[in-house]
Amino acid sequence: MKGLKIVEHPVLKHHMSVIRDKSTSKQQFKYSLDIISHILALEVFEDATLKKISVETPFETIKGSALKERIVLLPILRAGLGLLEGFIYFVPDASIGHVGVYRDEKTLKPVPYYFRFPKFVKGEDMIVVILDPMIATGGSSIYVINKLIEMGIKKIRLASVIAAPEGVKMIMESIKPVHLKKIEMFTCCLDDCLNDRGFILPGLGDAGDRLYGT
Ligand code: PRP
Repeated sequence: MKGLKIVEHPVLKHHMSVIRDKSTSKQQFKYSLDIISHILALEVFEDATLKKISVETPFETIKGSALKERIVLLPILRAGLGLLEGFIYFVPDASIGHVGVYRDEKTLKPVPYYFRFPKFVKGEDMIVVILDPMIATGGSSIYVINKLIEMGIKKIRLASVIAAPEGVKMIMESIKPVHLKKIEMFTCCLDDCLNDRGFILPGLGDAGDRLYGT
């Protein structure tokens, strides 16, 4: 694995405190998560490859650049939808898939219930960005990463807001070594640990519940 990149920015830190605060309203939570998703997206696309293109300005023709790889965004339902805004803003023609996975409250194991991925050609030059604000045990992320590996995807990015060290370790240990170089993880904060109910500490609670007021 290329590893875990911790995204840093003063504005990001400000909005991380807003979403962690238990008194933050649903509306404020969404607003701050939107801002976080924009900063996160720029970081995730930092190593995107460019191709040379010809651009006609009003005066002359120059050599310009365009993103070379197709971008596929893959939010994990539900909370992952909360990160879409920033990613779509920067790459509006990205394709979007959806993965439904929830975590069983007792076993903490991922329970998959939906998978819809855009049509693609095997071997296509593509970056797939998995979106999920939380990496707790890592189970949901591991399920999706393995699914993408089975499909032959070679450039996988996992974009999160908060990660527990236990989850990051589990992801690194669970993916077969031969596939690790295909994956890069991004998070805005590596938190302290998981509690006995599998919640991230200090965390922010359940991102899906706070986003949708459930
Ligand atoms: C949360 C979160 C992640 C998952 C993380 O989703 O959004 O998808 O748990 O936990 P893990 O790393 O231990 O798998 P949840 O199951 O609460 O579903 P929701 O988004 O529908 O609320």
